[in-house]
Amino acid sequence: MGLEFALYRLPFAVVGVPLTANPFPMQIESHWLQQQIDTLALISEEPAPVVTRILFSEADLRARQHVKQLCRDLQLTVTEDVVGNIFARWPGADPELPAIATGSHIDAIPNAGRYDGVVGVLGALAAIRALRASDFNPLRSIELIVFTSEEPTRFGIGCLGSRLMSGALNPEQALTLTDIDGTSLRRWLEKIYGTEPDLSSAAKSKAYAGFIELHIEQGPLLDRAGIEIGVVESIAAPATLRVQITGEGGHAGAVLMPDRHDALLAGAEIALAVERAARESQSRDAVATTGVFRIQPGAVNSVPFRTDLEIDVRDTNLAARDAALEKIRAEITTICHRRGVSAATVVLNQDAPAACDAALTKTLENSAAKLGLSSLRMVSRAYHDALFMAQISPTAMIFIPCRNGVSHRPDEYASPEAITAGTRLLADVLRELAAEA
Ligand code: GLV
Ligand code: MN
Ligand code: MN
Repeated sequence: MGLEFALYRLPFAVVGVPLTANPFPMQIESHWLQQQIDTLALISEEPAPVVTRILFSEADLRARQHVKQLCRDLQLTVTEDVVGNIFARWPGADPELPAIATGSHIDAIPNAGRYDGVVGVLGALAAIRALRASDFNPLRSIELIVFTSEEPTRFGIGCLGSRLMSGALNPEQALTLTDIDGTSLRRWLEKIYGTEPDLSSAAKSKAYAGFIELHIEQGPLLDRAGIEIGVVESIAAPATLRVQITGEGGHAGAVLMPDRHDALLAGAEIALAVERAARESQSRDAVATTGVFRIQPGAVNSVPFRTDLEIDVRDTNLAARDAALEKIRAEITTICHRRGVSAATVVLNQDAPAACDAALTKTLENSAAKLGLSSLRMVSRAYHDALFMAQISPTAMIFIPCRNGVSHRPDEYASPEAITAGTRLLADVLRELAAEA
């Protein structure tokens, strides 16, 4: 796919200003930042280069401790809410003014790389270090947020922390979410924090004057076009289905074909229907994935009696996404009926797209131009905590290129130059916003 194709897909303007003398005496410590990224990558459930940090795993808990210590080393005031969202605050001269927030996540899906989410957390720390070193004194507080479980791996639902902060997820319902072992979020929180969780306390309406998330693009457009900064205008709408199919097991030699109710084969047909729903959608941005497919009992000489699927459906167009979702649900019913198996389907989330704040987006674009960074307005096809922060505060996102658009893989890579440029822009915008009454 050439640049021309990549460019035609999105309505954007390319803004570029030749690099002139840096008007601000603010330096990002690239070496420090790279070292922190490399160190955090070693806190993983699997050996390098794989990064796996699933919510509440030993690696996730250790990574949280590690990042909290980095925040304390920077003299930030660290607090944590009931679901484990971490807040590290640099108090401003006027603590009454709503803070400017930034941040992202440090959990990682199985077989991930080292940059997804991490760049937005450690980059924010590097930005704060640079601001401090430049003798800046914020009027508004600046708060780094490390969100709990942006990734959906354990409970099937992404952005758990920011969902609860925004009030988009009912707190009582959240406690009943279960993982693959049937352990509920309630049980996990009791185990880790030792108290009866009251998730309603995580809601944080109107706490922030603005939220800026720095993230790798996770797509190829910036890298292909050689553009340094993506200014996100909107975030595509994700939905997730969990499907549990129950068929009839039995001996692989003894159960004859006419008598079979194979749960795997029903699941396989459903996975193909998921693909079809996206391919046949009128919307070119429709994508649908069956990313989880587990069978039981998983023995070569036994007919599978149970299949668990998790299905991810997204689009920039909400109506088209919902139409694809409905089509998939109808197919599940038809396929399971025909095969004589039963299906329990749960819609774990069915989110709307988010629009970034027009004024903040313009601020990012202007700052990028001022710093001599080329920028491109774009859509985020991945979801982020910004999707939910946009419901409670003006929100914007800075994207940086990642090599070949590769993400959610161990070979995910963003260059030190790209990370430094994004961090520099973040520092600049935090300074501007935190200085304003
Ligand atoms: C976030 O990780 C996503 O799946 O978009
Ligand atoms: Mn991710
Ligand atoms: Mn991410």
